Formats: sequence, C-alpha cells, structure tokens
Amino acid sequence: MNVADSEMIEGILQSKNYSSINSIDKADIIFVNTCAIREHAEEKVHSRLGVFSRIKRNNPEVIIGVLGCMAQHLKDDILDSKPYVDIILGPDSYRKLPALLERKIEDKKNIVDTKLSRYEVYDNFFPSRKEGINAWISIMRGCDKFCTFCIVPFTRGRERSRSVNSIVNEVKKAVNEGFIEITLLGQNVNSYKYENHSFDYLLKEIAEISGVERLRYTSPHPEDMTDDVLYVMAHYDNICNAVHFPLQAGSSRILNRMNRTYTKNHFIERAHRIREILPSCGLTTDIIVGFPGETNSDFEETIDVMNKIKFDSAFTFKYSPRLGTKAHEYSDQISEMDKQERLEKVIKLQKEHTLIRNKEIIGNNERVLVEKNSKRSINQWAGRTDSNKWVIFDKENANIKDIVDVLITDAKGISLHGYLVKKKEAA
Ligand code: 5AD
Ligand code: SF4
Repeated sequence: MNVADSEMIEGILQSKNYSSINSIDKADIIFVNTCAIREHAEEKVHSRLGVFSRIKRNNPEVIIGVLGCMAQHLKDDILDSKPYVDIILGPDSYRKLPALLERKIEDKKNIVDTKLSRYEVYDNFFPSRKEGINAWISIMRGCDKFCTFCIVPFTRGRERSRSVNSIVNEVKKAVNEGFIEITLLGQNVNSYKYENHSFDYLLKEIAEISGVERLRYTSPHPEDMTDDVLYVMAHYDNICNAVHFPLQAGSSRILNRMNRTYTKNHFIERAHRIREILPSCGLTTDIIVGFPGETNSDFEETIDVMNKIKFDSAFTFKYSPRLGTKAHEYSDQISEMDKQERLEKVIKLQKEHTLIRNKEIIGNNERVLVEKNSKRSINQWAGRTDSNKWVIFDKENANIKDIVDVLITDAKGISLHGYLVKKKEAA
C-alpha cells in the first residue's frame, strides 16, 4: 500500500516538475511516507526523522514532510516534539501537495492537513513507477471493518472504491510501460464495490486486458471471500493461484473480540473451499498472538487452525496496542513474555508447514516469472511460481521478465530449488 502511495505522490510531484534525486543531503525537500499499523513501523520512522533533523540543522532551508498514516495518527505529537517537520499530510491530502509546497516556500509557515475524505480515490493520477515487473494498483482506499486491534480505519478513513474504468485505464498504462504482473491493492480488496460491480467483476475485466501475464491481489477479508471470486480465479489462467487469507486468531471468542466477523469454523470452511476450487492454490495468512484476553487454550485454537490448514506461509505478529483502537482500552493485556513465547511457537510451526507444503511440489513443472538475481549466486535467478513461492535456479538462457518452466527438485528453508526445463518467449 505504501509503495503504491509513494509512487502516486512521486507522480503528483513530477507532474509539477519536481524530480527525485538519490542523495538525501542534496535534496531541497525530503518526504517520508509512513505506516502506523504496528509500533515497530512507527519506531523506524522516528529514527529516520532523527537523521532528517540533523540534515535540517546543517541546511535550515530544506523542507521536511511527514506523509501518510503516521501523520494522521500522531500529528499532535509531531507538532509538539519535532519542530523541524514543516509539513504533515494525511493519506487523503496528497492531491494538494504541490499547492501546499508553494505556500510553504512563500510564507514559511508550517502546514498540517490531515482531513480524511469520503471520496478521495486519486482517480486519474498516474503513479510514477520505476521500471520493473510488478505494478501495484490501488483499487480502493480506507476500511470500514473496524477490527478492534487495527488503526487503519482511523488513519485511512472510510472505505471507498475507484471506478472500474479508471482502474482498467491504469492497468493498460502499466502494461504499455512494460509491466507484466499486476497486483491489485486494498485494505479489503474483496469488498470492492463500484456502482453495481463487485470484486469478481473487476478481476474479470482486468484478466481480459491483453498483456496482463499475471494478476494478483491483496488482501481479502475472509468474510467477503465469495465462491464467485474463486470461480473467476479458476477460469483465468493469468490470475495467479494464490490467496492471502488473514486468520488473525483461531479462537472464535478472540475473533469476536477482534470484531473479525467470522468464526473459526467459517474460516476453515472457506480455506477448504479455496483449495477445492483452486487445487494448487498457495494459501498464506496473517496471525496475531497475544491479543488481550488470549488464554493458553485460545492460543491452542490458533495452533489447531494452523495444523488443519497448513498455510504455505504466514506473517506472524505479536499484538501491538495502538492508541485510539478499542483493544488498546482492554484491561486484560498479555505479558510481553507470553506474547514472545507464543510468537516463537507459531514461527516454528509455520516453518514446518512451509517446508511440508513446498516439498509437495517437488517433481512439478512450475511456471516461474524470472524477477531478480538470487542472493546466493550471480549465476542463479530468483523467480516466483504462480502460487507465490520463490524458486532459485541456474540462469542458463532465461532473462528477467521471462515466464519459464522450472522443474522443482528441492525445498530448503522457505525457498524452492529447481532447473530450467524450457524457456518461454519473453512477454
Ligand atoms: N498488532 C499486531 N498486528 C497487527 N496487525 C494490524 N494491527 C496490528 C496490531 N495492532 C497485523 C494484522 C494485519 C496485518 C497487516 O498487520 O495481522 O492483517
Ligand atoms: Fe485493519 Fe481489519 Fe480493516 Fe484489515 S480489515 S485494515 S485488519 S480494520
């Protein structure tokens, strides 16, 4: 989400003749685009701001701006404790950036604009994408789900979807610029609604665009994961067989306290349905441990779901209390020690499951999109399977951006290894 927003901000500024440079010390304006979802993300921004304050000390003319969710969430704190920050802008105010910059340059006064909008979707603003393979395309903004642990509804505001037309136009533009993979983005992609069109319709429209070799999306909400979406995925070869399906917790009692609107059984039923309609689908998830009130037996239910589904991989988090959210007020917070212990257990179990899932595809010919040099050797490529798994293989005559057949021969750690079977024509 943040990459997509940063690319859009860059696009807005470039259209007014600003350009980016590589050396931060030579910049006239420095923006940091921020995420507030977990405490850790905020800590990283605080340390970056420390660097910026030193730059400002040497060059008082430089303009420093904090953009995005943290600006929305912590504007008072930033105003009080970071006087060197000139501009604080929330995620619905980027459109005004060029005008605000001019105002700042003229009258030197600090600028704060964190008003959230019910309508802003940045239609017809084209992001400035670096040359590459995958184009992130945001199809909606905000979130109305109000999970009790989550800051997003407060920092990014109400849910609103872009028009089908503007998304289709952006995809066509990205394809013309050479991108062959499209990833649709939203806090809740599958609750996409524009006029009477829902997410399955949008997926179909984009899959039909010629030049879209691979289509992915993230993240869906389990509540809105309809069979219609799964059937569209099954129908189109270019829609990747991968679903990120955030569990958060296995206990229905905790899910209810999280306001996740589904039960443990419903989640398991949907996950099985995904695998039934899309047999080789990569299924990944997000798991939070140590949500307030999570007992050992609640935690065991998370382990139980993990054992039943055996996700291909998972992002695992210790619950982090976010000021302003409902769960922040709960009195039964879990100790750091228990959170750490539970986190270690889910990480260990997930590693086992990832290996089991990866070993299942040894012997398969997988279609792999060649994406970058492998970290291990300059003679090897790293690419992703349709199901979103990384594969390392000898380069031979394959090039970046090719989609090639790779015979999977081994699974180690979280990666797969294999060798090139036959090279497909470059896209
Ligand atoms: N604490 C821990 N994890 C969180 N997430 C969101 N908010 C919190 C929080 N307060 C995780 C969820 C979500 C992912 C993007 O971040 O698992 O799916
Ligand atoms: Fe946050 Fe829940 Fe919305 Fe996801 S669905 S962004 S976790 S409130």
